[in-house]
Amino acid sequence: MKLSGKVALVTGSSQGIGQSIAERLAAEGADIVVNYHSHPEEADTVKANIEKLGRRAVSIGADLGSIAGAQKLISDGVAGLGQIDLLVNNAGVEKNASFWDVTEHDYDLVMNTNLKGPFFVTQAFVKHLQGRKSGGKIINISSVHEDLPFPHFTAYCASKGGLKMMTRNLSIELAPLGITINNIAPGAIETPINTALLNDPDKLKALLSNIPLNRLGKPADVASAVAFLASSESDYITGTTLVIDGGLTWNYSEQ
Ligand code: BGC
Repeated sequence: MKLSGKVALVTGSSQGIGQSIAERLAAEGADIVVNYHSHPEEADTVKANIEKLGRRAVSIGADLGSIAGAQKLISDGVAGLGQIDLLVNNAGVEKNASFWDVTEHDYDLVMNTNLKGPFFVTQAFVKHLQGRKSGGKIINISSVHEDLPFPHFTAYCASKGGLKMMTRNLSIELAPLGITINNIAPGAIETPINTALLNDPDKLKALLSNIPLNRLGKPADVASAVAFLASSESDYITGTTLVIDGGLTWNYSEQ
């Protein structure tokens, strides 16, 4: 197993991509800090799934939109499982609205969850690693929309573009500490964030016509890439983005 003896924290791991990542890293031998915001029962199910694999798990609720919440998640995780070696910043939200209709509430929710949260959870994690004089790995679940425009999701794109630059900056600043940081950029994956789209046959058909591999991704498609970036097989990779989108991003052709 690739991750025996490691402890991973996966934010937003009560459902969707985060759940799949948490369970996959456990299957690779890691103990897991499960984190949720609004779904404690689902998080308990994920914790139980991990324990069935023979690994230790704790489930911790947190509001990652505040610095205090971010710091408490790291300290509670360390108190629960002794240490944290791998951080997966997965928690994220999106809001669909025309630019001129975006409210301060929704802007703050998106930016706080998708950018401020990862920023300060990562800061607290780095201080934990510094205290242990240990290296570590950080994997951010970004989006193809760290590069690709997505009209009506401008705050979301700004947050993911910010996450991309955070990763590039920190790859340089954290390298002397033996810490690597990379982004994974999923395209259209079957998860709760996409429920409205998945239930609209016309929108789904239009989306599939943009995906050369002609299917939506599965959470497991993302989790397998996280397992690689979390392992020592990726030791020389830092500051980059691995795109997992079935070819969506660069799909352009003329008949
Ligand atoms: C968004 C999805 C969208 C996908 C492809 C993801 O980042 O969360 O809503 O379908 O990108 O555009």
